[in-house]
Amino acid sequence: MAATPWLLLLCLSLAAGGVLHARAQPDSNGFISIDCGLQGEEGYVDTATKLSYYPDTGFTDGAGTCRNISADYITPSLCKCLYTVRSFPAGARNCYTLRSLVPGLKYLIRAKFMYGNYDALRRPPVFDLHIGVNHWHTVNISKPHVEKSVEALVVVPDDFVQVCLINTGAGTPFISSLELRPLKKTLYPQVTVAQGLLLSERSNFGQIDGNNVIRYPDDTHDRIWTPLVSSGTYTEVSTTSKVIPDSLFEVPTTVMQTAMRPRNVSSGISLSWDPEPQPNNPSPGYIIIMHFSELEFLLFNVTREFSINLDNEPWHPDNVTPKYLYGAAIYNSVPSRKSRYDISIIPTARSTQPPIINAIETYTVVTTTKLGTDSLDVSAIMAIKVKYQVHKNWFGDPCGPETVMVWDRLTCSYATARPPRIIRLDLSLRGLNGDISSSFTNLKAIQYLNLSNNNLVGSIPDALSQLTSLTRFVTQPAQWSNPI
Ligand SMILES: *[C@@H]1O[C@H](CO)[C@@H](O)[C@H](O)[C@H]1NC(C)=O
Ligand SMILES: *[C@@H]1O[C@H](CO)[C@@H](O)[C@H](O)[C@H]1NC(C)=O
Ligand SMILES: *[C@@H]1O[C@H](CO)[C@@H](O)[C@H](O)[C@H]1NC(C)=O
Ligand SMILES: *[C@@H]1O[C@H](CO)[C@@H](O)[C@H](O)[C@H]1NC(C)=O
Ligand SMILES: *[C@@H]1O[C@H](CO)[C@@H](O)[C@H](O)[C@H]1NC(C)=O
Repeated sequence: MAATPWLLLLCLSLAAGGVLHARAQPDSNGFISIDCGLQGEEGYVDTATKLSYYPDTGFTDGAGTCRNISADYITPSLCKCLYTVRSFPAGARNCYTLRSLVPGLKYLIRAKFMYGNYDALRRPPVFDLHIGVNHWHTVNISKPHVEKSVEALVVVPDDFVQVCLINTGAGTPFISSLELRPLKKTLYPQVTVAQGLLLSERSNFGQIDGNNVIRYPDDTHDRIWTPLVSSGTYTEVSTTSKVIPDSLFEVPTTVMQTAMRPRNVSSGISLSWDPEPQPNNPSPGYIIIMHFSELEFLLFNVTREFSINLDNEPWHPDNVTPKYLYGAAIYNSVPSRKSRYDISIIPTARSTQPPIINAIETYTVVTTTKLGTDSLDVSAIMAIKVKYQVHKNWFGDPCGPETVMVWDRLTCSYATARPPRIIRLDLSLRGLNGDISSSFTNLKAIQYLNLSNNNLVGSIPDALSQLTSLTRFVTQPAQWSNPI
């Protein structure tokens, strides 16, 4: 709701308003699929997912430049979405704004990066990625051919979300594609207003041919499930029957229809990994979600039962017996911190069958406690930005992250547990033209507003005088032909 004036104005200000406006909206699934740096007006249908991808024109405030990756890196299997990038040589922070979202809903947000030597410098950059005002990930592109995918599951508090690329002085930020998928509120209970999940691995065990990535339409939420091939001591178990998904994670049936088990019926399953320290998160805590379903119809005298240990300590208090053709998940809610993760899934003494596992997801935690600017203030200031064509460094959240990236000519107040408010705005000497926008009256916490020395005409909106906090309002009509 809050972004309505801004949407209307944005729409009017774009040459091909109708077309771009339509593209900047989620599709009928609520999906937004952007091919960054794609030139022209036309989108296209992705061959793998049959989803439509659109150019990023309506999402970036006109910042950045479209570039092609080097032809050396284009292979037949490469997603078309990686052929182009948008790079941001100017500005400390540049953002994509995804609009028309449902406030308070959970979303999957996935950004992809493939450098492909687009700038012919052979110097892949390192830069930061923010969701709104919260640090998301440090993107470290080590090799030109590497496709890097950064995915988060977050609650979006407003009806829009910004994905921002932050230049940290280690090369020019760029992005290849950006995808947003809505998730039901009940999914992923670990995702809260204060905590998001950053995907580490999402693996599907036991696929027979071993190289089919599963995503939309099999996964209605378009999560990407990567096959993990069983080899050596492990073998596959599979079924063609439908597996009823569990309600907290809704793993697609095609993922649950395959599983891995040890060849030796008295052995267990071992999974291990080392945590990946991040510059801003040197000892990340992990959330682990394991998915199980029995795929074999077991006779009454046959039992599959196992326990799950993490570093030789019981990780889950109860023994697990997967139910025939029903998905179930075993997960932690409080992130565990270890120097190394060694999971062993061990058959119990009375088990006659080896353990199985169908899929696993691992995540680290992203703190999302920093609040963005009050959403009504954001709508008002965005409308002002669009109306008067203010560029400067007006990208991303107006007030944050606190003090570091506040917009030029603007002062905010910060209080704990409440969104920052815009309290001062000095747009004097900015060459503003036209009338005095009623949007100024929507800055309900404004104390100081200086619009002097511009080319503004018309009357002062009445509502300005009703702003109780406004103690200083300056419109010296120095250049006005028809002063009020
Ligand atoms: C990128 O490639 C397309 C198609 O080959 C071409 O039309 C376009 O001009 C190229 N863009 C740039 C910025 O080089
Ligand atoms: C980026 O990754 C490379 C190698 O993977 C590492 O040497 C370098 O320190 C990383 N840079 C930053 C800023 O994290
Ligand atoms: C199967 O595993 C058990 C327990 O780990 C071991 O004692 C046995 O030798 C294994 N059998 C074969 C055939 O590898
Ligand atoms: C279970 O019962 C079936 C049929 O009665 C028999 O063939 C099989 O060997 C038994 N399995 C076990 C583990 O006892
Ligand atoms: C308003 O801005 C003008 C031009 O920058 C400045 O000269 C003036 O002092 C400002 N007025 C107030 C009350 O701050």
